[in-house]
Amino acid sequence: MSRIAVVPGSFDPITLGHLDVIERSAGIFDEVHVVVVHNPAKTALLPIAERVSLIERALVDGAYPRNIQVTSWSMGLLVDYCTDVGASVLVKGIRSQVDVAYETPMAIVNRNLAKVETVFLLPDPAHAHVSSSLVRQVASLGGDVSPYVPRVVAELLGGENVA
Ligand code: PNS
Repeated sequence: MSRIAVVPGSFDPITLGHLDVIERSAGIFDEVHVVVVHNPAKTALLPIAERVSLIERALVDGAYPRNIQVTSWSMGLLVDYCTDVGASVLVKGIRSQVDVAYETPMAIVNRNLAKVETVFLLPDPAHAHVSSSLVRQVASLGGDVSPYVPRVVAELLGGENVA
């Protein structure tokens, strides 16, 4: 039986930190579903469809493993998506104690709701300081985001080092 993992998030936009977690998940699980979810607690920059497209293009650009697929979910609980596709594991990146505090209740609720476990991966230290909210802020003030995001995102948001 193939082990399917879901890597969920706002991905607004996808960062190099996200890609690191996605790539490493693809090395652990048979199939990885990257699922873009609207988070009502956050003010969105990009429409969901554009976030999905950017992730797909970043994966092709970076020649990432082929066992990764990208989709979005807006039909309710994330665990319902997991149940629909037969995924028993969520994967999240943990950069700091702040992430632990944010992720712990969600992990417990998701396990209680549908027996979906959450696996936490520590980020590559090179990306430990990177977040989508930081990228949105730097971009909104005209700064160079190319060190933090894949090329397709830097092209969209502005990056001095985009050839
Ligand atoms: O990248 P984010 O914004 O930290 O991702 C948070 C996200 C989208 C994964 C989280 O808000 C979520 O799982 N939303 C789906 C709604 C849901 O299932 N909520 C109940 C269990 S936490």
